[in-house]
Amino acid sequence: MSSASAQKAVSEKTQAKKKEHPSGDKRFKVLDITMKRAQNRPDALIEVLHKAQEAFGYLEEDVLIYVARGLKLPLSRVYGVATFYHLFSLKPSGAHTCVVCLGTACYVKGAGVLLDKLAEEAHVQQGETTADGKMSLVTARCIGACGLAPAAVFDGKVMGKQTPESIMDNVKEWLE
Ligand code: FES
Repeated sequence: MSSASAQKAVSEKTQAKKKEHPSGDKRFKVLDITMKRAQNRPDALIEVLHKAQEAFGYLEEDVLIYVARGLKLPLSRVYGVATFYHLFSLKPSGAHTCVVCLGTACYVKGAGVLLDKLAEEAHVQQGETTADGKMSLVTARCIGACGLAPAAVFDGKVMGKQTPESIMDNVKEWLE
């Protein structure tokens, strides 16, 4: 490789790294791909929000800000659309949020069993919040960590290779 092309490769790598969301959360990458495919057109807002909800399970402020920037739209417009359509849900009301990925890779590796365990032990169904308001349980479709299936997200922290035991361990403190 010539030094010029080596330099180009390095700068492309740095660019890609720079573009990555500071949290390192791969789900933002899924959003980037969707926005890029739509050529960052503002009229792709609903499609992008739909993808965001699939990846995150719900739309929180951080995600709405990211989408607004990506599509060069005022945040108020993004909020307006996200709250107007019933198919979108904003951050759930529980003090903590557990997102279980139900994408194909996670599903075949037992994500359904994780949900059953949470329903049985934490008395919460998907899309709902425990009666004491301590935890909301949300599902998503592929959170970008398929290699770690089955994966779940605990208050924004992605963790892979979950088992019914580990998932209960991860939410135990929240439920005390
Ligand atoms: S299917 Fe669960 S992370 Fe991709």
